[in-house]
Amino acid sequence: MKDTDVLVVFGTRPEAIKMAPLVKALEATPGLRPVVCVTAQHREMLDQVLEVFDIKPDFDLDLMKPGQNLAELSAAALQGLNEIIASSSCEMVLVHGDTTTAFMGALAAYYNKVPVGHVEAGLRTYDKYAPYPEEMNREFIGRVADLHFAPTVTSALQLAAENRFAHVHVTGNTVIDSLQWTIKDKFDHPLLQELDSNKKWILLTMHRRENWGAPMEAVFQAVARVAEERDDVEFIFPVHPNPAIVRLAEEYLGGRERIHLCSPLDVVAAHNFMARSHFVLTDSGGIQEEAPSLAKPVLVLRDKTERPEGVEAGTLRCIGTNKRKVYTEIVRLLDDDSIYRLMSEASNPYGDGYASERIAQAVFEFLHP
Ligand code: UD1
Ligand code: UDP
Repeated sequence: MKDTDVLVVFGTRPEAIKMAPLVKALEATPGLRPVVCVTAQHREMLDQVLEVFDIKPDFDLDLMKPGQNLAELSAAALQGLNEIIASSSCEMVLVHGDTTTAFMGALAAYYNKVPVGHVEAGLRTYDKYAPYPEEMNREFIGRVADLHFAPTVTSALQLAAENRFAHVHVTGNTVIDSLQWTIKDKFDHPLLQELDSNKKWILLTMHRRENWGAPMEAVFQAVARVAEERDDVEFIFPVHPNPAIVRLAEEYLGGRERIHLCSPLDVVAAHNFMARSHFVLTDSGGIQEEAPSLAKPVLVLRDKTERPEGVEAGTLRCIGTNKRKVYTEIVRLLDDDSIYRLMSEASNPYGDGYASERIAQAVFEFLHP
């Protein structure tokens, strides 16, 4: 039997981290052949992941432009993906999550009447501007998807509430599969030489569009105050390369003692720094899923999250972006051992590391009924 081609589309760092184990699982499934298409909505941050997982894309649209806006990126991605899907022999298109690449990949597949599989389906805040534009992207993808891979029962129930019952599979999140590739007992990195291992390391990341400007400034001021007042902490801040974020990070946090600004870490470094940190301060989606597995508390720099499982498990607390609140919550988590213990002993609700295999199997069964 000839292998069936499955087009795997991704473009940003988090999609790559979560699709890489699936590419490997599809390769290992007799009867299926993954064809990898990257939009390169991200460039360096995507390439870092491709290198770690040794994935060589079959197609690379190379779309990233500095400071790109949503409309031009969407238009270029739709056109490029449409051409690839129209001229390929793929019988299914797999997209991930809620990015522009994922939405345009699903739309291009629909225009070509190719079935769509949505990995990490069913996440919702039901607020169309938080996260923006991701909340609407995933709703749109959910409308055209033929197969929905929900990471948890909660996300599957959300799809059911939207009358989507057929072809919903609860698989776990592929990010947990990824952690099994990246976490190392022995880990070396140049940044380790700058850090004092007797101090509490706090990993900080921040990039969401709805936090650009005033919310980000407020958080950075709170972080600067903590670093100024306490000599028992070290902040590690790999700065997202978006020019709007780099400028604010340098203005508020650059050149300060106990704050280490650096370029984006490759995924092995990111996961291993997280595993060695005391806790995490972030507005990232993926980090909210990884941290419970690594037993690391997360203060989420958002008012609401589409990852309620981590909040229920006790690992995540949504603290928003108010300057005083962020300062107070950081200090509390540093000083209150009982809260720290409760948050770091919570269990991981995001799966057992076999999500990719379940997805590959479901794709095979869908294509070979
Ligand atoms: C995108 C996704 C967001 C995801 C995030 C993960 C959309 C709308 N947003 O947001 O859902 O959480 O990725 O990080 O799909 N840049 C570089 N090098 C890179 C990557 C980005 O220089 O490798 C800079 C460029 O100036 C680029 C800008 O960052 O124009 C913004 O990138 P973009 O993908 O449009 O948005 P993100 O904020 O990264
Ligand atoms: N990450 C990384 N390098 C960094 C910061 C984060 O590899 O310098 C990883 C992180 O561990 C997680 C993913 O990138 O796996 C999350 O990406 P991001 O926060 O950019 O996007 P989101 O998950 O919010 O969409």
